[in-house]
Amino acid sequence: MSDVVLLETRDRIALITLNRPDKLNALNYELIDRLMAALDAIEIDAGVGAVVLTGAGERAFSAGADITEFSESVRRGRNTAIRDFVRRGQAMTARLEAFRKPVIAAVNGLAFGGGCEITEAVHLAIASDRARFAKPEINLGMPPTFGGTQRLPRLAGRKRALELLLTGDPFSPAWAREIGLINTIVPHDELLPAARELATRIMRHSPLAVGSVITAVTRGLNMAIGEGLLIESEQFAAMVPTSDLREGLGAWRERRPPSYSGR
Ligand code: COA
Repeated sequence: MSDVVLLETRDRIALITLNRPDKLNALNYELIDRLMAALDAIEIDAGVGAVVLTGAGERAFSAGADITEFSESVRRGRNTAIRDFVRRGQAMTARLEAFRKPVIAAVNGLAFGGGCEITEAVHLAIASDRARFAKPEINLGMPPTFGGTQRLPRLAGRKRALELLLTGDPFSPAWAREIGLINTIVPHDELLPAARELATRIMRHSPLAVGSVITAVTRGLNMAIGEGLLIESEQFAAMVPTSDLREGLGAWRERRPPSYSGR
């Protein structure tokens, strides 16, 4: 793994660190590709039950797409810009959103542009009291391109999202929590322990059930409720023949803690 993305697994939690601190962890193409490769590795590793995603250094979670690099794609014209920049970034946020193991953003500093879009896409987010958010693409003369026009309105509501998208003004962790972009704010030094603690509380449960909840919620949110309910029933149906569901129900009957095998 190249060092623009660090991956370290401890206690069944994979810690992914965006690691370009001198560039405020700006998302260049190499970093996005490495992040996708890390997710591929984590997906098939039965020893990992959750992911924590953070940024290296004192200042940033991520200052967004690498402007120097994508400017060159823009210069080459529409097809290159869409292929190399937009599709790559959208694939990254879609992969995070649909990942069947919980992904928790530990937002340690600036989360601007693509850094904010990652926070929108992941399942849960905890912010340091030093975090700062923004949708600054409008300052560059463009709309967001990694899903930021779609997920933020779904989280925050249309008018609150449009205010942020149209002004580009930075906003505080308190406002991020108020609009549903993050779950909670903690003192800076407690950020990673808090993210690990949340991951651990989720990992008590069947990984199959955890995956089914993520899929039902994520896919269902993006369709009409009737179709969403079909997905919910499909996810439950997939659990019916599993040992994990037998174990969960049996443990409840026998008044003992469950022990899940992930099968
Ligand atoms: N893309 C590429 N490089 C970036 C970057 C980005 N999105 N954000 C920061 N950097 C680089 C800077 O160019 C600088 O590199 P250098 O030291 O080689 O010149 C380094 O990271 C530090 O950033 P700097 O701008 O000097 O820090 P600052 O404290 O003055 O400003 C920001 C911080 C976040 C306000 C400013 O970096 C910024 O506006 N970044 C762009 C944010 C953005 O628009 N993101 C959305 C992109 S679509």
